[in-house]
Amino acid sequence: MTSNGSGPAGRFASVAEVRQQLASVGYLADDGLAGVVYLADRLGKPVLVEGPAGTGKTELAKSVAAMSGARLIRLQCYEGIDESKALYEWDYKKQLLRIQVEQGAGWSELEENIFSEPFLLTRPLLEAIRAEEPVVLLIDEVDRVEIETEALLLEVLSDYQVSIPELGTIVAKQIPLVFLTSNNTRELSEALKRRCLFLHLDYPSVERERQIVLAKVPGITEQLADQVARIVRSLRSLDLKKHPSISETLDWARTLLLLGIESVDVETARSTLHLLLKYRSDIEAASAELAKAGTELSA
Ligand SMILES: Nc1ncnc2c1ncn2[C@@H]1O[C@H](COP(=O)(O)OP(=O)(O)OP(=O)(O)O)[C@@H](O)[C@H]1O
Ligand SMILES: [Mg+2]
Repeated sequence: MTSNGSGPAGRFASVAEVRQQLASVGYLADDGLAGVVYLADRLGKPVLVEGPAGTGKTELAKSVAAMSGARLIRLQCYEGIDESKALYEWDYKKQLLRIQVEQGAGWSELEENIFSEPFLLTRPLLEAIRAEEPVVLLIDEVDRVEIETEALLLEVLSDYQVSIPELGTIVAKQIPLVFLTSNNTRELSEALKRRCLFLHLDYPSVERERQIVLAKVPGITEQLADQVARIVRSLRSLDLKKHPSISETLDWARTLLLLGIESVDVETARSTLHLLLKYRSDIEAASAELAKAGTELSA
């Protein structure tokens, strides 16, 4: 922590309040998760959210923004992203135009002119630092950036300030709530991990997934939601290439509802497995398992 900005925000009164507010925007969390968000806010620390695909990492940041009325600023990371796309860059085209228009002007005058605010292209990190209003900064899929860019992130996240040689240092007016997400495609640096609170999101329990389905699929019955959650859970216990994620559970539940299905039998499950599983070998394995389970499905 540095003395920059207005310090930790204290946006939430308690862990229970975080959980309730998350629920009010449709994100169902347990106290563990809510506790990390609460602490992040109190300590002014970023949260590193890690876990398999489709377990609600991105959605968590969006939901925290929605529930606290903060603006969500998202930096979508990818291989090759650099400072000019993460922080800022100068608008060369506009600068060139200005140089052409002002042909008679001396260089120093011109220089001062073209390295000023109207020629600056603000990227998400700078945007978050400069924001006047409350902000949630989502640095999504941070494991995809190169080490050098990770160092840049680290710098910004430790000082909450950015220095632009031509303009000076811009210090954050407030410490944004920051979420970094990772699918763990590569190990992040110790330095970055040390800076963050760590949150591991895994597949939910049957009960929580049932609640998520009920919250996210309007019109679904308790019975169908329960069945969906239990079948998905049993598929996750199989040895598959890619287990179904919460997104896929929701897709499946919506499809069953659209098809007017009230209760899932083996045939329905097998004919709609492609919504849950994306590899042919997984579909075959699951299909065989469902056939074996047979009557249990309708229990
Ligand atoms: N706790 C939850 N409460 C409500 N909905 C949830 C919850 N967790 C996940 N979801 C739903 O699951 C879907 C997938 O979530 P999200 O896109 O955040 O996954 P992710 O972890 O970011 O995945 P990826 O690693 O592929 O980016 C979203 O539609 C989200 O609404
Ligand atoms: Mg995501």
